[in-house]
Amino acid sequence: MAAETEVAETEVPELPVARPDGCPFDPPAAYTALRADEPLARVRCPGGMDAWLVTRFGDVRAVLADRAMSSRGANSAHVNQSDLDAPVPPGSIIQLDGDDHARLRRMVVAEFTVRRVEAMRGYVQRLVEEHLDALLATPGPVDLVEGFALPIPSLVICELLGVPYADRERFQRQSTVLVSTDTTAEQGQAAFGELSGYLAALFAGKREHPQDDLISRLIARGAATGDELTMPELVMLGLSLLVAGHETTANMIALSTLALLDHPGGREVVLADAERAVEELLRYLSVVQFGVLRHATEDTRVGDREVKAGEWLVAALSSANRDEQVFAAADALDFDRETPRRHIAFGFGAHQCLGQQLARVELQESLTRLFRRIPDLRLAVPRESVRYKDNTLVYGVRELPVTWG
Ligand code: HEM
Repeated sequence: MAAETEVAETEVPELPVARPDGCPFDPPAAYTALRADEPLARVRCPGGMDAWLVTRFGDVRAVLADRAMSSRGANSAHVNQSDLDAPVPPGSIIQLDGDDHARLRRMVVAEFTVRRVEAMRGYVQRLVEEHLDALLATPGPVDLVEGFALPIPSLVICELLGVPYADRERFQRQSTVLVSTDTTAEQGQAAFGELSGYLAALFAGKREHPQDDLISRLIARGAATGDELTMPELVMLGLSLLVAGHETTANMIALSTLALLDHPGGREVVLADAERAVEELLRYLSVVQFGVLRHATEDTRVGDREVKAGEWLVAALSSANRDEQVFAAADALDFDRETPRRHIAFGFGAHQCLGQQLARVELQESLTRLFRRIPDLRLAVPRESVRYKDNTLVYGVRELPVTWG
């Protein structure tokens, strides 16, 4: 009996993660066949557990909308060395379920409405222009990641949270550790400990001396309503926003720039209609590259499969966004799509990205101003020498040497 189980276990194929040689923007080639023939496929994840890999757009949406699917492993435990039995830390918005999640989301959602974010557009525009001035003051080449794509989202999230940008070395180093799939459980714990310690000290100061920032407003709102966040909750929420707020957007800015440089007429497209261009880039690039993890809390059905309580599911966002049943010529970067906003690069359901409007504003302003101010922007290295982040939760380029003139 034991021997039989062992044979069965070794037969489970590994979660496909490698991208095809030809196009660095395409998700693993295996997804195409899986969508057609095995839309829920049993896979073994690098994190150690077996899971159902969900590859079709409709199934991915259904999983993410299903209240019976817990997010407790949503810190990407399927590709990290995480402790699956560890309790969800209080304040970890991305991992909490049901009422606990709703309470936290309600407290912070007011900070991310379209109106609130539009009010930040002027600030984002100024930041972008200042960074372009600094780039253009050099003869080039420059690394666009270091000089542009990373600092802009970092500065925006720091301003929003009231975190001093001068401390960026500390939190950027720790968040790089937290989003790498090569990080061991011990290294993850150490990075988490250091970042939480830093934020706890900072937020304690805000309790004493509130300022005009999101954390101070949360503290004040809690005091006014009698539903105060504890310090561990506040720290975990702040940490989630800090990491989610700059890693994703920074990678999207640099990778989108590369995709636009590759694309004939890419510059003109983004200048003509930035909103439309950004939505198609979000779909096409799907930078949350290993998808999001869910845990079934009840027996349920996904597509024509029974999923048992206790089983894990990987909702493959990058596969869903290339589903040819939903997007014609799904593998093409096509800026003329009729419904460019239909993608699920920001997830779906209760946990759909809280910062999506802010990310959109940052992407629109960065890309249009970059291509307007530097019309002859081009790579400063041979195209094939660009290196990609295959081992981080968020896909991107490691560096992007560019030049002009
Ligand atoms: C292009 C940039 C971005 C992408 C592609 C992205 C993607 C995502 C995805 C796929 C999720 C869902 C995770 C899940 O269901 O488990 C998510 C959630 C989240 N994102 Fe983003 N994100 C981006 C930018 C941002 C920014 C700028 C912020 C903050 C300022 C942010 C904050 C969050 C938070 C707090 C959640 C958790 C929401 C919840 O659980 O209720 N994201 N994001």
